[in-house]
Amino acid sequence: MRCASAWKRCVRRAEPLAPYTNFRIGGPADLLARPRDAAQLADVVRAAADAELPLRVLGAGNNVLVSDAGVRGMIVQLTSNAFRRVSIDGNRVRAAAGANLPRLVHHCCRVGLGGLVGLAGVPATLGGALRMNAGTQHGEIGRFVTWLDVLEPDGSRRRLSRAAAAFRYRQSGLDRRIVLECELELPIGDADELLRTMRAIKRAKAAHQPLAARCAGCIFKNPPGDAAGRLIDAAGFKGRVRGGAQVSERHANFIVNRGGATSRDVVALAEDIRRAVFERQGIVLEYEIQIWERAA
Ligand code: EPU
Repeated sequence: MRCASAWKRCVRRAEPLAPYTNFRIGGPADLLARPRDAAQLADVVRAAADAELPLRVLGAGNNVLVSDAGVRGMIVQLTSNAFRRVSIDGNRVRAAAGANLPRLVHHCCRVGLGGLVGLAGVPATLGGALRMNAGTQHGEIGRFVTWLDVLEPDGSRRRLSRAAAAFRYRQSGLDRRIVLECELELPIGDADELLRTMRAIKRAKAAHQPLAARCAGCIFKNPPGDAAGRLIDAAGFKGRVRGGAQVSERHANFIVNRGGATSRDVVALAEDIRRAVFERQGIVLEYEIQIWERAA
């Protein structure tokens, strides 16, 4: 028989989150759970719901800024093998939420499956990429999804169609749900050509983005018909510093931690940018990164 409180063994208290984010910024999570499988994850979700604790999933930590005071409630990481499974049948890929996206992209290209190649060089877990509908100028992940299995906030499991997942530019209807796994239907292509395209996309990205830096990718969404990077650059912000945070010299829509940056430094710099872009160009920039406040 399953022990009702066994899930407690996968939970740690006051676990620092900075090491799990690419920014390397932020305080501890009250509780950090690493469930061993979907059943244990459902127990964790139900326990958090019963205790009215906020719950969030931390993927590869490439799109979040954790507040200096840390995060209240439960943070979940899908790191066990049960959450990394990938299987391919023809042009259908079934993969679990904790799968590493760059590895998945590479693997699909190698076996002659296209589509995901547009996401070459995007650091993420599959679950994080789905929730954010990660994408580049070459396309977004949502369009390849046939179905997704999710846990609802009450711990119940449900299969969603692509339409029900409501993918839009850098967002989806998955915010309060946890993706468990999904099926992607990919166009068939030539493996050598796909691998060449993958390398070319990565090279182009490396030429324009501070890939090795401690950052969270693009800070703001692109406003309709324009690019946040262009607007921030035109406002004269490249290289601007606030404490340990700096607007990248390479791409103005990236804020990097040049050492010792706090969440406060990053937000202060980002808010300076928003104010300046609004005053200069009349455009309100929307955050693309997720800012995890303590109080939320
Ligand atoms: N630009 C500038 N100055 C800069 C940066 C950009 O003038 O400092 C100009 C560029 O010259 C170009 C335009 O802004 O004319 C757009 O720049 P870029 O081609 O670099 O693409 P982006 O729109 O800034 C988007 C995604 C990136 C993705 C790239 C490449 C968003 C918010 N960003 O950037 O995604 O890697 O296209 O496909 O949609 C991310 O989501 O975190 C991310 C990095």
